[in-house]
Amino acid sequence: MQIEMTQPQTIPIYPAFDKLLPIENFYQSIISNETLATLQQMPANSIDLILTSPPYFLDKEYEDDKTFMGYLSKQTQIIKECNRVLKPTGSIYWNVAQTVQENEILPLGAMFYSIFKNVGAVGNFYMKNWIIWHFEGGINCKNRLSGRYENLLWFVKNKENYTFNLDEIRIPSKWQQLGDKRCNPLGKNPTDFWVFEDETEKELAFLDTENSIYEIHRIANNNKKEKTNHPCQFPEKLVERVIKSATNQGDVVLDIFNGSGTTCKVANDLQRNWIGIDKEEKYCKVAKLKIENNLQKVVKNNKIYFTNLEETTEHLTLFERDEPLQSHHSGL
Ligand SMILES: C[S@@+](CC[C@H](N)C(=O)[O-])C[C@H]1O[C@@H](n2cnc3c(N)ncnc32)[C@H](O)[C@@H]1O
Repeated sequence: MQIEMTQPQTIPIYPAFDKLLPIENFYQSIISNETLATLQQMPANSIDLILTSPPYFLDKEYEDDKTFMGYLSKQTQIIKECNRVLKPTGSIYWNVAQTVQENEILPLGAMFYSIFKNVGAVGNFYMKNWIIWHFEGGINCKNRLSGRYENLLWFVKNKENYTFNLDEIRIPSKWQQLGDKRCNPLGKNPTDFWVFEDETEKELAFLDTENSIYEIHRIANNNKKEKTNHPCQFPEKLVERVIKSATNQGDVVLDIFNGSGTTCKVANDLQRNWIGIDKEEKYCKVAKLKIENNLQKVVKNNKIYFTNLEETTEHLTLFERDEPLQSHHSGL
């Protein structure tokens, strides 16, 4: 059912719910709670798209799994719940990089593929694409090649009946740009290898001009306009491509590891219904401000502060970050 969208001005952050609720009760809100428990409170067959990036077992500040097997077992339970809450025509896009255990790379994409294919009695998942997306910047490894890609695994519940709006995500082809009239005027299929334009130059202009070039380099990736206090954000352009291709206006988009709320912000801008879940309240607060277009980032005295637009630079206490943010690949 397509619902009429109203652009929310104030995004609620809810704690845990204690009973199964109609899915509409969750629309346009962030739930600050454990993913598994929250999914268990959602009705079956109610979500069109789950786009998410789980923790990678990299010992980030928000990770609490003690063993790798325990981590995989928890993710398996969550993936089963994802199968239940997705509509029969639904899609799930699962973003992972590699993880490292005792100086050995573990290919999380391959491990998750086998989990998705073995969710058992709840229902099937079928892979439609294994997307590789390339990024610049990150840790420079000394004893192996530096990691510069992540994996976006796209699964559907019904391999014959799912949403894929190719025309919404076509990109200009070289021949088209050279004026070849035989080309599709809407552009070409963007393929399963994604590279997004490096917008660093444009983003540098965003920085406070008081800052020296030295400081700009020291904070590395932090100069990106999109960056918040979260260490592992999705690029907005990646999210936009997925949401445009996998949903229509009024559909329901869920991010079960919502972080700084990139999925929800883009879904909101594209007039989709959306729901975000994250157990860390500090990320939920930033996500709320980001979706409300009320997030201000200020660089002052070599520190980065996140606050709402009403705060003055004298009162930058809301979300302070004084260390360089790390990429997904720290520790590799
Ligand atoms: C890789 S980050 C997602 C970042 C997000 N894609 C963004 O653009 O900001 C994973 C997020 O999952 C959250 N998280 C980890 N384990 C969780 C759990 N068991 N329940 C709820 N949230 C969890 C963390 O707090 C973290 O913000």
